[in-house]
Amino acid sequence: MINDNNPYVNWFRHSSPYINAHRGKTFVLMLGGEALADTNFGNIIHDITLLNSLGVKLVLVHGSRPQIEAKLEQQQISDKVHHHLRVTDSDTLQCVIEAAASLRTEIEAKLSMGLANSPMHGAQIRVCSGNFVTARPVGIYKGIDLCHTGEVRRVDSEAIRQQLSINNIVLLSHLGYSPTGEIFNLAVEDVATQVAISLNADKLIMFGEDGGVRDSNNELRSEILADTAERLVSQYMAKHDEPDQTPSELSRHLKAAVEASRNAVPRSHLISYREDGALVSELFSRNGIGTMVIEQSYEQIRPATIEDVGGILELIQPMEQAGVLVRRSRELLEAEISCFTVISLDGAIVGCAALYPFKEERAAELACVAIAPEYRGGDRGENLLQAIEESARRQQLNRLFVLTTRTAHWFIERGFIETEVSNLPNGKQALYNFQRNSKAFSKSI
Ligand code: ARG
Repeated sequence: MINDNNPYVNWFRHSSPYINAHRGKTFVLMLGGEALADTNFGNIIHDITLLNSLGVKLVLVHGSRPQIEAKLEQQQISDKVHHHLRVTDSDTLQCVIEAAASLRTEIEAKLSMGLANSPMHGAQIRVCSGNFVTARPVGIYKGIDLCHTGEVRRVDSEAIRQQLSINNIVLLSHLGYSPTGEIFNLAVEDVATQVAISLNADKLIMFGEDGGVRDSNNELRSEILADTAERLVSQYMAKHDEPDQTPSELSRHLKAAVEASRNAVPRSHLISYREDGALVSELFSRNGIGTMVIEQSYEQIRPATIEDVGGILELIQPMEQAGVLVRRSRELLEAEISCFTVISLDGAIVGCAALYPFKEERAAELACVAIAPEYRGGDRGENLLQAIEESARRQQLNRLFVLTTRTAHWFIERGFIETEVSNLPNGKQALYNFQRNSKAFSKSI
């Protein structure tokens, strides 16, 4: 018997497909200095260890902005930012090196701790750092020499890959070296993005204070397209960011996500460093917990295939039990699968609808329209209907009809008008189930 009521079992069933999906994949995790200083950092380390043990290839890129700022203040060195870039003179560079070095040591130490008090106790995590990032100076920008402030010139992706292939975690800082042996202070976002791009990473994951993008109602945007993110960055920067300050975290992270998306990193994620378990929730649930930036929506409307039968059954069974949909057996569904259109999201079926043509009458029945409860409230039903209408038009049909007992209003709002059963195609009238006493609606398309 399926035990759907046990939340643990339920959770495991839903997350285990992602365990499989993420194995062997390469994720670049970016942790700014703020994340390292947060009390939740210990939990993040724990989750990183877990990912490593699940066979995910991990590159950690860390920053040290607040730690540098603290050191500058301690030594009474003034902090100069010019057009969003810190000017790294030699005194500043010394602070930068000290901050980065001490953070690296701390991260290495924490990763060496293993997972105390768990069955994974004693699991050995190997971390490796090195001269993987070659940098060049930014030079003179708008009249000001930025000194040791640099940008990424090249990433030795081959060397990083070698380390990843033997299961090592690669730890990179925001420092880079030039072929002449100079040290450059880079933006952590630049390093993380360029490393993700050059490794063809599967994900760039950025830990921030807010844990994602919020709309004007302060609702979290779970998924945004790179185009939208790009627009948001320029709007946001124009409104909030002064040229003599480092841009806000959100601008920096969104910019990095856009750049990664444009260069074939399929998914960039903005999650919170303050929330315990954010990394695991983002990675092992379908909807995540933060904001995912992608080039194209990962939700797809497409014709169903025979592999979708299981997913469709799972989706429609609760609605059949509630009497909203007519019962369909697996066999019937298999036979009629070519009539179905589905909305799939990372392989799961979250919506479906069927179109049964009556060629002679140039009409078709729209049936079995279902959207999973947790995915209602958006435009999914609407989009599905549009896709079905298009497909009907392609088949030279000019009228859709639907029989429904409980959801008439939804169809009426979308242009369907009530009609007599006697107006339905003959073939359908013959099958009309008087017991259900459904109402008929039709729409010209
Ligand atoms: N867990 C999946 C992944 O790691 C999907 C995450 C979706 N996240 C979101 N914020 N919409 O790719």
